[in-house]
Amino acid sequence: MIRPHGSEKLNPLFVSAEPERSDLVREAEQLPSLLLNSGAAANAVMLGAGYFNPLAGYMNKANAMAVCDTMRTTDGLFWPVPILNLVPDVSGIATDSRIALRDPNVEGQPVLATMHVDAIETLEAREAEHIAQRVYGTRDPAHPGVKTFLESGRFIVSGPLRVVNFSYFKTEFPETFRTAVEIRDEIGDRGWNTVVAFQTRNPMHRAHEELCKMAMEEVGADGCVVHMLLGKLKSGDIPASVRDAAIRKMAELYFPVNSVMITGYGFDMLYAGPREAVLHAIFRQNMGATHLIVGRDHAGVGAYYGPFDAQEIFTREVPSDALEIEIYSADHTAYSKKLNRVVMMRDAPDHSVEDFVLLSGTRVRELLGSGIAPPEEFSRPEVARILMDYYQSLPKN
Ligand code: ADX
Repeated sequence: MIRPHGSEKLNPLFVSAEPERSDLVREAEQLPSLLLNSGAAANAVMLGAGYFNPLAGYMNKANAMAVCDTMRTTDGLFWPVPILNLVPDVSGIATDSRIALRDPNVEGQPVLATMHVDAIETLEAREAEHIAQRVYGTRDPAHPGVKTFLESGRFIVSGPLRVVNFSYFKTEFPETFRTAVEIRDEIGDRGWNTVVAFQTRNPMHRAHEELCKMAMEEVGADGCVVHMLLGKLKSGDIPASVRDAAIRKMAELYFPVNSVMITGYGFDMLYAGPREAVLHAIFRQNMGATHLIVGRDHAGVGAYYGPFDAQEIFTREVPSDALEIEIYSADHTAYSKKLNRVVMMRDAPDHSVEDFVLLSGTRVRELLGSGIAPPEEFSRPEVARILMDYYQSLPKN
């Protein structure tokens, strides 16, 4: 099986052994608390679940800057995005002490992890802008990821973590949320050797379905792991529960039995395009996938990135020995009216734009919101039904 990133064995930071875990939870109640922001809480969940292997906790400033500038930590580990705990107010916590990290996304703000505070550092405004430029490719506060980052507080609280729960992800998505350890184990149990991972934050329409099938066929995969983001999104994106239902329906009806695993992970979307794609590759390697599909405008938003920037970063900036997972680069995929099937545009050079069924996201939302199913060439009717029910349940404005 493919090795995890940066170590021989996966080392999740979740503490599961008893009585260690109960002792830790009890002890945490006595420690000084820090209320995390949602992004830092998601980082803790990813660390706990083994997705961010081999990191031991939140990065300090030197590491964050090194990652931004060189895509390596100060120890030389290949890593594309700073994993930070940014805090607006550090009164009540001290360097070289242990603290409890509390979850902002669960009622009662339960302890999510304990942490040893290695350092408390100030992030100057120009340093924050530098990080934004490097990670998101822009400092524009209208970019949803940049906005969240710049509003996250000016203190970097770094150090190793011990994670004691998985926030709301396990309770809200019991069927779908999985740790990297669980996915790795299931891949092993199924006896899959070549495994395609599909990142998504959207419901899956026909293009996505076919993208997975084409990738599986081309790399000779034993199976596909659909791995959906379950954390926070920008407003207007479809909630995870609806996506989950739509994706499950599609897999049930249109994929061969036992060829696909429907799973999800607890992380807030960064919309960081190319850099986020590299992070995606790392955590799919950690969960045991051998290939990651990167298509058009992967992890993008608005017009901040070129449609294939997230593929090009792997050939231009990622050293060839940095990752073991391979990237399956997909061209724009759509239904061809001439061929009566979904194709990648690069495989249909004689086509003009009019030969494809192309609908903008806005148009699809308009149709679904009015109770009109998009054409079957675009969306499976059973998937469209679930999405129409969702859009029609929204308050009209
Ligand atoms: S993402 O932010 O998670 O990347 P989305 O869920 O829309 O967004 O896309 C999931 C994956 O499918 C990404 O790799 C994306 O590049 C790819 N993708 C989505 N639509 C298309 C399409 N029409 N053609 C090619 N690739 C696509």
